[in-house]
Amino acid sequence: MTRVSFIVCLDKNLFLNRNKFSSVCSRQPCCAFHHKYRYPIMASQDDREQQLQQISRIIHGYTGARTLMTAIQLSVFTHIAQGNHSVEQIARAADANSRGISKLLDALVGMEFLKKDKPNHYELLPCSARFLVKSSPEYVGAMHENDDHWIAWSNLNNVIKTGQPCMTVDQEKKAEEFFPHLVKSLHQMSLGKANRLAEKLLEGRQDVALEVIDIACGSGVWSIPLAEKSNKVRVTAQDFPKILELTKSYVRHHEVDKQFNYLAGDLKTVDLGEQKYDIAILGNIVHSEGEKSSKTLFHKLAQALKPQGKVVVIDMFPNNERTGPAYPLLFALNMLVNTTEGDTFTFEEYRQWFIEANIPHVSMLEVAPEFSVIVAQLA
Ligand SMILES: C[S@@+](CC[C@H](N)C(=O)[O-])C[C@H]1O[C@@H](n2cnc3c(N)ncnc32)[C@H](O)[C@@H]1O
Repeated sequence: MTRVSFIVCLDKNLFLNRNKFSSVCSRQPCCAFHHKYRYPIMASQDDREQQLQQISRIIHGYTGARTLMTAIQLSVFTHIAQGNHSVEQIARAADANSRGISKLLDALVGMEFLKKDKPNHYELLPCSARFLVKSSPEYVGAMHENDDHWIAWSNLNNVIKTGQPCMTVDQEKKAEEFFPHLVKSLHQMSLGKANRLAEKLLEGRQDVALEVIDIACGSGVWSIPLAEKSNKVRVTAQDFPKILELTKSYVRHHEVDKQFNYLAGDLKTVDLGEQKYDIAILGNIVHSEGEKSSKTLFHKLAQALKPQGKVVVIDMFPNNERTGPAYPLLFALNMLVNTTEGDTFTFEEYRQWFIEANIPHVSMLEVAPEFSVIVAQLA
């Protein structure tokens, strides 16, 4: 396993023309993100202005992304929530230059993260109050509190020329430094979908005892809702030891401690046992593991599952032709800059790998209109 990261295009409305979407992905159901992040196609080849605008919108996307990341890193939203409203107050709280802060605040107003109803008085809008203030229970800024993702993507040219990622965290120690930030943001971003998935997986099975293993569980976001919705569910949460300390805090917060056990270690070497589990969850891990390691893991899971047990894969899936949607294809580049083996994989690739691992029944399950997962079931 190597270093993994995650792209978030928080302000898609600024940069994408949402009225003119490509339809390339309609051939195959895919991930939760693709409808939101599909890039627009040209409305008419003759429309020069429109084509130039679309190029400009995408190529200048970095300005909005960098502005928001800087605001997160300087805790601008948190300082405002704490009662600092003028340029001078916010600059003092952020230990920053007033002119710089003034330009940053106005840009955030323009991007609709802040409002300025009177001169030199900045206030949070509901979106930033809810998701960008550090003390908010729904804070999603953790993964952008450092520049790891930004630096990795800045090296894209070189990575493509050499085929080598700029930095990796395949050792447990580095992984344990890197993942907590990512996992905290992922928890908030995935919780709504995780609740929907839990409802689907438990349909008609609320009273059935179910053993679940959540591989590379992070916060436990995909298994906690299962435990919340059925007290018959028992979860084994698997990850590196230090990450499991973080998992435990989420499990305690959701008051499902009694239903959780922990299995610390590297998923490549950890013993998963035999015929122990009804459901194995693979949330956002196949893309960073890559083909070889994932195939080995699928074989281990075939042993670890009870008869008719299921593997549930939550990930980003390009269509079988790899022509779209844009988001999973961009995410493959994200894996290129951050890992040695990572990629995004098509449904057909998953299907073949599961069949090779003797998990023969493979299907795409639509959980919600913009969220599908792969389910593979033992005979
Ligand atoms: C992208 S996060 C996904 C977390 C969670 N499954 C989710 O979907 O929110 C990847 C997780 O995999 C864990 N991980 C990465 N490589 C691993 C390995 N070799 N063994 C065990 N856990 C690993 C990381 O510690 C991290 O918690």
